[in-house]
Amino acid sequence: MGAMSGCSLERSMARRGRAGAARLLAVLLIGGLAGCGAPAPPTPAPVTPTVAAPTAAAALPTPAALPAVLPPAALNTQFPPVVAPPDNPTTPQKAELGRQLFYDPVLSASNAMACATCHHPDRGFSNGAPISAPRPGAPGRNVPTLWNVATVRHLQWDGRVESLEAQAIAPLTLPSEMAATPQEIEAELRAIPAYVELFDAAFGGGPQAVTFDNVTRALAAFQRTLLSRDSRFDRFVAGDAAALTVQEQRGLALFFSPETHCAECHQPPTFAHETFRVIGVSSEDPGRAGVSPTGVRGAFRVPTLRNVARSAPYMHNGSLATLEEVVQFYAEGAGQAHGIAPVDPLLKGFDLSGQDKSDLAAFMWALTDERALPAVPEQALSGLPVTPRIVNPAR
Ligand code: HEC
Ligand code: HEC
Repeated sequence: MGAMSGCSLERSMARRGRAGAARLLAVLLIGGLAGCGAPAPPTPAPVTPTVAAPTAAAALPTPAALPAVLPPAALNTQFPPVVAPPDNPTTPQKAELGRQLFYDPVLSASNAMACATCHHPDRGFSNGAPISAPRPGAPGRNVPTLWNVATVRHLQWDGRVESLEAQAIAPLTLPSEMAATPQEIEAELRAIPAYVELFDAAFGGGPQAVTFDNVTRALAAFQRTLLSRDSRFDRFVAGDAAALTVQEQRGLALFFSPETHCAECHQPPTFAHETFRVIGVSSEDPGRAGVSPTGVRGAFRVPTLRNVARSAPYMHNGSLATLEEVVQFYAEGAGQAHGIAPVDPLLKGFDLSGQDKSDLAAFMWALTDERALPAVPEQALSGLPVTPRIVNPAR
């Protein structure tokens, strides 16, 4: 991977302002600067980072002693703004109501399914299953994470929904999911004084505030609080050279390397992108072509990798069980290795040792930060039990 040149450093320092620049400088002084006048190398330097990669048996140097040369792309720390629609500004009262509703199975016709049944907080807001029940117009799909969903503009794997408020309608009313009607939901919630109080606090207007629209607004406000931005990767970029282990730093270098192209689609700081790409996961799912006349068959939105270690299995159809399997899939040239063509031109495959594979997976683990996870209610306000907690041994 290419070392960061002094010139690109200056540009990014200008972007980041004085405080950011001071931190960056500290990072780079540990690592030493590459010459400013030197032209960019025509061919990429070897993928292994600036440290001689230790063999498994050799003693690892302490992270603090490592050069922490960061690829310029890694220095983009500007998250897209969290924008709520003008008629639904986020307030603590709405987010609190949304938190209660998210975990309450009273919203479903059976009184047995909540949003959290599928978007489980112990599973990175997914559910550990390959796919969920099919929705109209699409085969069953893997449950996507809700971390940082506030910054996603085209929701669902195929990008067919444009707001969190609108998105909530589908699971609440689909016969294969919570199967409720707006009338049922309103009637049940109005009969629970604790909810009437919370709706009033959030929207005003007494019992009249308990409407289906306000249910979707509160759920959206809650989801806009699920932000994950302070992983060990972020602290490393901010100048804490000890925040990543040697292995994770090797994985970082691979992730941002011109061989793997990972960071060109999964762009920091969200490690996502609002484009639809064909990587060639084998399935019957039309993806973007199913919802847009200009959509390409088999194209899906580039999903975030924040907290991705928590939400296995992977891909729109949950067909890859582990991050190591995902890395192997890309190394083999993604869909091309399975007779699916054409795939995105960035996916040409690359050489990968067993060590590289674990390094890349380790780097993705370092994108984990679940500290903003709001507390899960002990009991739902309806009196029903909340989704049982899953104890994930990987945690
Ligand atoms: C039965 C399982 C299930 C339940 C219950 C469920 N979801 Fe989902 N959710 C899914 C699946 C599957 C998708 C992906 C659908 C697709 O892409 O076609 C999804 C997608 C989403 C997305 C889009 C995320 C993204 O990154 O594009 C949001 C937001 C969401 N759900 C919120 C909710 C809320 C709020 C509730 C409760 C009202 C809820 N879900 C209940 C399975 C479920
Ligand atoms: C051409 C753009 C592109 C490149 C390059 C790319 N990805 Fe992806 N990635 C995607 C898309 C699109 C998906 C979703 C595809 C699907 O579900 O069918 C995805 C899915 C994933 C997932 C699963 C996420 C989830 O929640 O299920 C992981 C993990 C991942 N990529 C890691 C990587 C790594 C590591 C690399 C580099 C080796 C990489 N990606 C390179 C576009 C890309």
